[in-house]
Parts: sequence; C-alpha cells; structure tokens
Amino acid sequence: MNLEINTTITYSNQENSPTRTTIHYGGTRSGKSYALLQWCIVKCLEGKEDVVIVRKTIPSLKRTIVKDMEDIMQSMELWNANDFNITDRIYTFYTGSTISFISTDNPEKLRGLKSSILWLEEAQEIDEESWFQLRIRCTGPIILSLNPTISPHHWIRSIEDATQYFTTFRNNPYLEKEVVNSIKALERTNPKAWRVYGLGEFVQNDKAVFQFNVVDWVPDDAEFVCIGLDPGYSADPTAIISLFRKDREIYLVENCYERGLVTNDIASKLRTIIGDNRWEIWADSAEPRLIEELYRMGFNIRPVVKGKDSINFGIQVLQNYSINIPKACQNLVNEFYGYEWETDRFGRQMDRPVDFNNHLIDAARYAAMMRLSQVATAKGKYVIRVR
Ligand SMILES: Nc1ncnc2c1ncn2[C@@H]1O[C@H](COP(=O)(O)OP(=O)(O)O)[C@@H](O)[C@H]1O
Ligand SMILES: [Mg+2]
Repeated sequence: MNLEINTTITYSNQENSPTRTTIHYGGTRSGKSYALLQWCIVKCLEGKEDVVIVRKTIPSLKRTIVKDMEDIMQSMELWNANDFNITDRIYTFYTGSTISFISTDNPEKLRGLKSSILWLEEAQEIDEESWFQLRIRCTGPIILSLNPTISPHHWIRSIEDATQYFTTFRNNPYLEKEVVNSIKALERTNPKAWRVYGLGEFVQNDKAVFQFNVVDWVPDDAEFVCIGLDPGYSADPTAIISLFRKDREIYLVENCYERGLVTNDIASKLRTIIGDNRWEIWADSAEPRLIEELYRMGFNIRPVVKGKDSINFGIQVLQNYSINIPKACQNLVNEFYGYEWETDRFGRQMDRPVDFNNHLIDAARYAAMMRLSQVATAKGKYVIRVR
C-alpha cells in the first residue's frame, strides 16, 4: 500500500536524526506534535512497534494528542474506533503494532512499561525520575518535544548524545491566517512570550528573585555553617540543605528532597549528613513537635522564629552573598531558577515572592537568616530561642 501524507519539516528531522535520542524544540504551533504523530503511525504500519506517548496528566493527553491521533488517522482513512481501547488508551494496528498514551501521574505504572519507541510530549513538564523509568525500558528511538520554556539547568539540558531541532510557526504551512496573526501580534503585546512561543528561543526568567552560579562542587576551603530543614509530608517534600561559606560566597548543597518522610526517616537522613557531629540545624518553627522529637534524639536542632517580614528578610540575607549551587543539586537549582516575584494583574512586580516551589529555598532561608545575619541576633528582631 502506498500512502501519501502532507507533513512538516519535523517529520524529516525525526526520520533523518542521526542519534537515537532527538529533541524537538519549537515555538507554539510549529507542527511538532502533528508530524511526530504521523511519524509514529507510519512506523506502526511499516513494522511491529510498541509506541509509548507520554504527557504529565491524563486530561492534557485527552485534550491534545489523543484527539490529534484520531484526526490524522481519519484523514489517512485508517481510523477504526474498535481498535482503540479507551480504558487503557491503547490503539492496536492491524500490523500488531500499538500506540499507548500514558501519563506520569501514576509513577507505579511507569515501572513495568516497555516500548520500542518512546515519545515525551511537552517534556519540560515531566520529572527526571519518570524520564529515567521510561528511558531504561525503551529499546528504540526516543523523542522529546517541548517549548523552550525550561531553565538552563533542567535535566533535559544535560541529555548527552541527542540531536536538537528548532522550529517555529513559520515552519508550519498549514496554519490558518488568524492563528498566524495572533502569534505575530505577540511581538507587540508580549515580547517575552513572542521570543519563547513565536521565535522558539530560550529566555531568562527576568522576574527571578535570585541570581546564582551553578558550580561543580563546594571548594575544599569553604567552611561549613549549618543545616536548614523545612519539613513536609504528603503534598510538600521534606527539604534539607547544608550551608557553606567562603568570604562573600555561599554554597548551598541539597541533602534531601523527599515526600512521605516521618520523624525517624528525617532523623536517619540527618544522621547520614552530620554523622556524630553536633552541627547546628535550623528548622521551621511551625513544627514544634518534630523539632522536640529530633532534639530528644540528640540533634542540635532549633526553631527559627519567623517575624512579619521574615521571608523578605531571609531573601535579603541570601542576596548579600554570591550564591553557588553544585550542578548535581537539581531540585535546588530548579527552585532557585523558578522562584520569582509576584506580579499584580497589571503585570507590576510586587515585593513578595510567589509562594510556590520554595521548600529547599525556605530551608536555605532559615539557615542564612540565623547564621549569616547580624540583625537576627543583635537587634533582637528575630530572636533565637536557645536552650
Ligand atoms: N501535516 C499537517 N497537515 C495538516 N495540518 C497540520 C499539519 N501539521 C500541523 N497542522 C496544523 O497545525 C496545527 C499546529 O500543529 P501542532 O503539531 O499541534 O504544533 P505544535 O505541536 O508544534 O504546537 C495543528 O493543530 C494542525 O491544525
Ligand atoms: Mg504540540
């Protein structure tokens, strides 16, 4: 059977990619999803493949890629509704090939999932652990598609031996004029969005609270200062950092970023970090019971007293130093990169940060506030309760 399809440059980029892993960056509506679906479908018709297409959530899958798949198959006159198992979201071709649509919402499911072609759609949303679980069970080509909204420190940036392609809406001749015009209008109305979604370029986060450097590791002559602890349980992870200082430079190391930890788990994490030392640990005062329990276990732990302005105060203390984070501390880097000032509905910057993804940052704030500032001890504004 001969099949003729109309497609975009992304199709031939994928087909001719010289490496096993291919990353398709693109502005909005550049034709990535459509072309990559066409490519997967053709592979399923040419041979026997088990394609796994992944997004972060099920609603986003249903709204976009599953619908596109049906449209494309219908235009090829190949769609057979009976071949689509709606419950498991698997399409089975007459060749025996399958395309499964998966979300990473349920990490358990990922562990048993084999594929011969793997495609992470909107890959910037997907976490590194899911990427790892999916990748090790794929035997063939691996595809990532995304908008260039990721930080320079996202795990996707450290993938080695991948070919990267960049496309924009100008590479998609099938767009309606109105759509093209509304994308072009961004150049006037929202220059930052224009650069990301129009031109498909990486941009800096210009609302970021912190500037920082990513370094290899903490230098040997940096001195250890203390540990910061921000406990979480189910929704938020428990975050632990170590703070080091060398002159006007500080180094922050991520020691723990994990959900579901109870007191004993936190204790053994701390034990691993500090051994038999009596190192100082500063923790969120909102958890008096946890602090008391850890204290009775022999840790040198104290609560941070949080005044009215303590968030901005802690931020200022950190900003007085040049901040360095080792590149292995991915969660810490992500939090510091994404942490930004709130804006009001007119886009004006406010003087408080967005309360989001700030667990390790809070731990760092506690440590800095209590040990790097004169104010905290001298002025008595942030009184330390010492046992
Ligand atoms: N080969 C094609 N044939 C027909 N229409 C296409 C084709 N490729 C893209 N389009 C149209 O362009 C729109 C945007 O493409 P899409 O692949 O969703 O872009 P992206 O994933 O890069 O944002 C699609 O919804 C579809 O209407
Ligand atoms: Mg898309």
